[in-house]
Amino acid sequence: MAAIIDGKAISLQIKEELKEKAAKMKEQGTDVTLAVIQVGNNPASCVYVRNKKKGCEYIGIGSVSYELPEETTQQELLDLITQLNERKDVNGILVQLPLPDHIDEDTVIKAIDPKKDVDGFHPQSVGALCIGQPGFVSCTPAGIIQLLKRSGIEIAGKECVVLGRSNIVGKPMALLLLRENATVTIAHSRTANLKEVTSRADILIVAVGRPKMITRDYVKPGAVVIDVGINREENNKLCGDVDFEDVEPVCSAITPVPGGVGPMTIAMLLNNCIESVKLQ
Ligand code: GUN
Repeated sequence: MAAIIDGKAISLQIKEELKEKAAKMKEQGTDVTLAVIQVGNNPASCVYVRNKKKGCEYIGIGSVSYELPEETTQQELLDLITQLNERKDVNGILVQLPLPDHIDEDTVIKAIDPKKDVDGFHPQSVGALCIGQPGFVSCTPAGIIQLLKRSGIEIAGKECVVLGRSNIVGKPMALLLLRENATVTIAHSRTANLKEVTSRADILIVAVGRPKMITRDYVKPGAVVIDVGINREENNKLCGDVDFEDVEPVCSAITPVPGGVGPMTIAMLLNNCIESVKLQ
């Protein structure tokens, strides 16, 4: 029987710590505010944005939100970001992705002041992570490191396989594991002998966006399995990229979906908002 890594409980613990920090900062006259921008009304984005604003409220920091219509031009969005970059009363800027097709995400991300880049997506933030300098770290991989550490799972010296190579999860995840002294492999859709590669992992992190793709034949017995996927099954139930029922009996610890990695992303975003004040 595997230990179930409870992301909901661990994220709550982090939010309580952040609540205390925010209260102390307030006592010293420092307010923290996150600006959240959403363009259009992608249903998943609406849920994420609402939860991010609720998270701010929960830990006692401010949020201002901009819900812009689908037809917003790239220039209008860039102008708003410029204004928010200049505002002293805004500490963090988050542009919810995906953006509509007529807006170039890379251009938008680059327009955010790296000192306010609480998502950690700006090339300067990614570059800093790559060479081990301080900077904002992408929230989902940062949350996974916290899940592992707070569950007492040793990372140093372990064989870690990250399945998925996205800029938001796979690549920063690999860099963070490396920073924790793991031996890291990134596997992806073109990896040869995938099962052989994933079966080497002491810690297997799956972020491929394919429902229940990972069955027990991809997993070394006793491995720790972290599932980043959030997919909907035909019956509308949420499921991960890992076939939980099949894999759970053979691994030593596993994250459920929902209630594993998901809640950690917002906790780490809130952490980045609190930390942003130090950079400004
Ligand atoms: N879309 C999916 N995940 C994220 C995230 O972590 N940040 C932003 N800004 N957009 C997302």
